[in-house]
Amino acid sequence: METFSSGQHTIYHGDAVCVLESDRIPKASIDLIFADPPYNIGKNFNGRRDKWPSEKEYCAWISHWLDLCVRKLKPTGSLYLMCATQCFASFDLLLRQRLTILSRIVWHYDSSGVQAKRYFGSLWEPIFHCVKDPKHYTFNADDILVEAKTGAQRKLIDYRKQVPSQYNTKKVPGNAWYFPRVRYRMPEYEEHPAQKPIALLERIIAASSNPGDVVLDPFAGTFTSARAAANLNRRSMSIEIDEDYLKIGLRRLELAAEYKGERLHRPLKSYEDEYSSESKNLTLFE
Ligand SMILES: C[S@@+](CC[C@H](N)C(=O)[O-])C[C@H]1O[C@@H](n2cnc3c(N)ncnc32)[C@H](O)[C@@H]1O
Repeated sequence: METFSSGQHTIYHGDAVCVLESDRIPKASIDLIFADPPYNIGKNFNGRRDKWPSEKEYCAWISHWLDLCVRKLKPTGSLYLMCATQCFASFDLLLRQRLTILSRIVWHYDSSGVQAKRYFGSLWEPIFHCVKDPKHYTFNADDILVEAKTGAQRKLIDYRKQVPSQYNTKKVPGNAWYFPRVRYRMPEYEEHPAQKPIALLERIIAASSNPGDVVLDPFAGTFTSARAAANLNRRSMSIEIDEDYLKIGLRRLELAAEYKGERLHRPLKSYEDEYSSESKNLTLFE
């Protein structure tokens, strides 16, 4: 298992279970865990197939590393877990046995890769927001406020108050979150079948951690959580099993300029050439 670190940001290249079973990450040391594991729906993660022989075996694997994650979490820590809609119910039970679920968040978007014709296509993914201790946990409501559409746009007055006054123009987001999926033409796009948007992770990290806190992601993929943590002055620990995805992380976190003699740079998109204005400004780490 290889480790790369800048002090603030650490990457473990290996199996999440092995890293979590080892004492590389001390017990009760992590403020926030974001876990976005393979969904057991048959995606192809660079040749590694995301399909277990049965749902029972998939849930046994989830339970195993979830227990390890809970041990790494501080008593005041929070854990967010994503899963396929098909597993929503099983994950709810697994989490309730270990933590307190505060919110069952729906991340929805406007289109998916697959356009269903004989059923209603899936346009959302579940995110569980859990804490170890429902009386002591971080929730920075003021840092994640969004526009309260009714109050802001219609300037309505709340006459039920003793002194009638305008409705709030800002509010804490509800549990249905709209963020567009990451598209090929977006600057943040990486070659990975399950990349999550930076904006989604920034909301989670801003809400449930403070500057300097440590965010752990056992299934880093394109290292969205670590990139968002860096943007918000948090520290990060990420685990990823695949070497090509590791290289994305080394580049996105600016931990290395090359890996095994290969220069790490963002691949050009089909509409870019090395002299185009979009690619001209690329630095080594973009
Ligand atoms: C759903 S993706 C995570 C996507 C990530 N949240 C992002 O925004 O890019 C799951 C990732 O887990 C990795 N993975 C699968 N099994 C693993 C294991 N046992 N240990 C560590 N990583 C694993 C896969 O290679 C894949 O990149």
